[in-house]
Amino acid sequence: MAYIIPMIPFEMLVFGGAGDLSMRKLMPALFHLHCDNRLPIHGKVYCLGRENLSKEDFIQSIFDMHQPLFAEQKEKVDSFFERIHYIQFEALNIESYKKIKTILSSDTELARIFYLATPSSLFGPISQNISLADLMTKKSRVVVEKPLGHDLASFQKINNLICDVFQESQIYRIDHYLGKETVQNLMALRFTNTLFESMWNRSYISHVQITVAETIGIEGRHQFYDQSGALRDMVQNHLLQLLCLVAMEPPSNAEANTIRDEKLRVLKALRPIKDQDVITHVVRAQYKQGNIQDVNVKGYLEEQNIPQTSTTETFIALKTYIDNWRWAGIPFYLRTGKRLHNRYSEIVIQFKKVPHLIYPSSVGIIEENRLVIRLQPDEGIKFKLMSKTPGPGMNLVPVYLNLNFAETFNERYPDAYERLIMDVVRGIPTLFMRKDEVEEAWKWTENILNAWQELSPPLKTYPAGTWGPTSSIALIERDGFTWHEDI
Ligand code: BG6
Repeated sequence: MAYIIPMIPFEMLVFGGAGDLSMRKLMPALFHLHCDNRLPIHGKVYCLGRENLSKEDFIQSIFDMHQPLFAEQKEKVDSFFERIHYIQFEALNIESYKKIKTILSSDTELARIFYLATPSSLFGPISQNISLADLMTKKSRVVVEKPLGHDLASFQKINNLICDVFQESQIYRIDHYLGKETVQNLMALRFTNTLFESMWNRSYISHVQITVAETIGIEGRHQFYDQSGALRDMVQNHLLQLLCLVAMEPPSNAEANTIRDEKLRVLKALRPIKDQDVITHVVRAQYKQGNIQDVNVKGYLEEQNIPQTSTTETFIALKTYIDNWRWAGIPFYLRTGKRLHNRYSEIVIQFKKVPHLIYPSSVGIIEENRLVIRLQPDEGIKFKLMSKTPGPGMNLVPVYLNLNFAETFNERYPDAYERLIMDVVRGIPTLFMRKDEVEEAWKWTENILNAWQELSPPLKTYPAGTWGPTSSIALIERDGFTWHEDI
């Protein structure tokens, strides 16, 4: 069933319009929204880029990149491309802004969205120029993409420049993981079912695992990636946001700030990994040449434009704790990496052993309950229970209650950007990060970065196509647990 939402007139300016994010993520998301009739008829998208391209060339490159998608709904393609415009643009030149002002609508009721899909070093100058050229309307919003800085100080610097022009309520800081259907379902699961809340704590849960595994490498993003690494690129934002949603207290309502307040409390309670703890609680590694699903792939140091001496981590696994009443003493294991064996993201809630066994060991090994929330692909929820096999005697085996969203709802899963774009248009900030959340996440991350710098722990390696270095397996096995890898 289609969503029923009011159509809000808007125009969107995509800075970095011919760049990777715009081409790979925003254009297909807008096409889906267009096909689902969720965009108002006159909603226009201006892609602003440095390249000197004609509208036809620009459209052709979008078309070439997403041919199978456009082939699915041929009849919608022409009307979609009528919305899309390309304008050659210099982000640091005020004349470019004056030029677009003459093209934009004079309707001040229109939501005007400035989508900054550029390096974050341009966020400040672009915001200033938007203001100088008087492009703001009373319904203006600015969307900024990660990386939001390199550390706390650089985040604050960038943020202050944006805040000189836009108010906090107009700033939409994207963490696209929050727009994923299954991530929102995690909240629905926790807060609309009585079943889980009473057990969602240290008395019943033994530990939590969050894995975001990717098979892709750095995809031509050498410059950005080599200066970031997995900790900054994935943990500081996506994995910490997932951790917050798993660990937060039930909010009293679904208002943006109520939810953000609860997430912030989790980040504040997150135990810093400092000094020597970085050696025992964190594993960092880089991929070497290997084989993924029968394809040979290069090692990180062989990737184009990566310095031979690079020590950037493409994999990280860590153990952390949340120092509050609910989670005291319960480890949270996080891991993410590129060029791993399989692409999948999931959250595993591992319950404790039953307190007392009434059966002899001959009935089978009694495994603990386990809730697996699969974020992608094959989105769904599995719950492991013990069950008796049919027949005489008593023989117990683990079985799964399996909710596969695709089969259950028989609907296409919208990409995170589809939802996030619509939320910006409608002015709903719930799935975007507030300034203090980003700051707190950077503070926590900086402890690890500082300890790495001070102690230079060894950088491990792993062959592409594996699950990472053996020390990441040891990290969890030392505590008597194993990573869940049910592919
Ligand atoms: C981005 C990271 O934020 O998330 C990328 O910069 C990563 O390195 C991507 O590949 C993963 O997103 P998804 O939606 O494909 O899991």
